[in-house]
Amino acid sequence: MAPALNFAVPRINAATVRADFNELSAVLHYTRAAYGLGLWVSERLLIERLFPDREAHLLEAGCGAGRVTIGLWDLGYRQLTAFDFAVELLDQARSLAAQRGAESIRFLEANATRLGPALTAAGVAPAAGALFPFNGLMQIPGRENRRRALSGLHAACRPGANLLFTTHDRASSRVERALWRLEAERWARGERDPRLVEFGDRYFAGESGRTFMHLPGPGRGAGRSRRDRVEAQLRRASPRACARDAGRPGILRRMPLLGGAARLNGRSPAKVNRPDAGP
Ligand SMILES: C[S@@+](CC[C@H](N)C(=O)[O-])C[C@H]1O[C@@H](n2cnc3c(N)ncnc32)[C@H](O)[C@@H]1O
Repeated sequence: MAPALNFAVPRINAATVRADFNELSAVLHYTRAAYGLGLWVSERLLIERLFPDREAHLLEAGCGAGRVTIGLWDLGYRQLTAFDFAVELLDQARSLAAQRGAESIRFLEANATRLGPALTAAGVAPAAGALFPFNGLMQIPGRENRRRALSGLHAACRPGANLLFTTHDRASSRVERALWRLEAERWARGERDPRLVEFGDRYFAGESGRTFMHLPGPGRGAGRSRRDRVEAQLRRASPRACARDAGRPGILRRMPLLGGAARLNGRSPAKVNRPDAGP
């Protein structure tokens, strides 16, 4: 008898995400953003609030083509280490930094889920703060891997360092909640997209190519109120900033109207994020 054919579809993993970010469409998209967009107002407000010392050493994860890295440089931060695992994007970031006279920025090829050895090999000193901007953390498939990335950033920072990141939220709007109810029904019927790793994952195609994204469930307790506070602070600081950022072309689809901030203080970052609400 002929052996049964195996039609198993591979799950999305780090290699899938890295390949998607190294694709030409993604490289063009993020390079254009690095050259033409710079920091959003909401990002600048949060960066200046969380990292008031311009002399501080900051570590940026998932720097892509350098949109945020060069934005930090333009704000006057001079001790910057930025890393990404997509070499095509990293090349663009290096070339943009050279054009802007920012060659002292240290760019590293590194995977956020295995950060320690890369930082040690490059002799990177502990950072006073860390950033994982524009949903990079949520583009890591698998909860355990996102926790590994948080632990790596924690280990790379001094006690008390702030971490700034963004994430979407499955409960952010009525439409989003309805879509996720339908998705839950599909999973209950056994009709889930077999490439997805966990409930809350999305894998979609758009102008910047294919994108993997995990959307955490509705936050509760400390996580929820901390996030609401950040959003309220942003609105107070610049009432139009959030709306303007969310309305910018190409951003609304992928940029949550939300800044996440956690303090990397002695406690494990995994515990800062509650199991039901965290990354
Ligand atoms: C949405 S892009 C944001 C790029 C850039 N920060 C920006 O705002 O334009 C997310 C970035 O995170 C990077 N990334 C995702 N997972 C990563 C991982 N495990 N290790 C390192 N970089 C990762 C991707 O390669 C990509 O450059």
